Amino acid sequence: MEVWPGRLPPAPADLRVACREADGLLCLLTDRVDAELLDAAPRLRAVSVFAVGVDNVDLDAATRRGIQVGHTPGVLTETTADLAFALLLAAARRLGESERDVRAGCWPVWSPGAYLGEEVHGATLGIGGMGRIGSAVARRAAGFEIEVLHSSRSGGIALEELLERSDFASLHVPLNPETHGLIGEAELERMKPTAVLVNTARGELIDTDALVDALRGGAIAAAGLDVTDPEPLPAGHPLLTVDNAVITPHIGSASRRTRELMADMAVDNLLAALRGEPMPHLANPEVR
Ligand code: NAP
Ligand code: GLV
Repeated sequence: MEVWPGRLPPAPADLRVACREADGLLCLLTDRVDAELLDAAPRLRAVSVFAVGVDNVDLDAATRRGIQVGHTPGVLTETTADLAFALLLAAARRLGESERDVRAGCWPVWSPGAYLGEEVHGATLGIGGMGRIGSAVARRAAGFEIEVLHSSRSGGIALEELLERSDFASLHVPLNPETHGLIGEAELERMKPTAVLVNTARGELIDTDALVDALRGGAIAAAGLDVTDPEPLPAGHPLLTVDNAVITPHIGSASRRTRELMADMAVDNLLAALRGEPMPHLANPEVR
């Protein structure tokens, strides 16, 4: 076993060299596993991703080569849903802005009009992608007497209607060619000016420039983002200059217990494939 000793993530060329003789690879969502890497690793028969999202892997290229790709569904569902709800609350009630002001020594005298946000209880929440995490967010919403709408390929309402009717919209679809840029200028225009957009799925689901314009121009009230495009956001990026965005650095599954469970699952996937067995959590079942 070789463990990458340097700073993460390794440069693509370094990863290709490191995988030259490898039978299996346990990688992070920051490692791009594309056809070029797979060509450079002719012995590879297992790629185990320490994440549920596998958009960093060219699944078709892996499947064509008979390589199993594993991921970590389920164990991070509740933890990620907790973070999505935390972002919803933080963005709706302007926690980022008000907390920054307190730390900066600008605690304004209490006044009836200070830091007015949006009400969470009794609101309408639209969930884009009612899968494991989307459903877990819906369960949390019930405690706030929130009405839940949803939109998925296999059910619910059209995304356009969901955006028009929702006070909060939370994204939980995987990133793929179909969902890339799912939310652009036209979709943001459909949302209520008081609406809050939450994204804990993948940054590329949203057109970042359109989101910045919507937040600046008042097309929507606020955003809560655990994922962005690009990631990380470079210093001075326009998203970092808008007060009505609460941004966390992709920490959806970052609880101690969940990360242990993800590690166990990723290792189990890898070892199963190296033994010649099907991975318990296979992202490309067509490989079998
Ligand atoms: P999941 O159970 O597979 O749910 C995905 C949902 O999206 C399903 O309901 C699916 O339903 C729907 N969907 C797929 N393609 C769609 C499309 N084109 N349009 C509309 N709906 C679509 O996945 P999950 O475990 O909830 O995870 C969701 C995503 O969250 C992951 O892929 C990952 O990117 C992200 N994530 C982020 C973090 C973080 O740290 N921020 C942590 C964990 C996961 P249908 O098949 O019926 O459409
Ligand atoms: C995290 O983003 C994951 O997909 O697990």
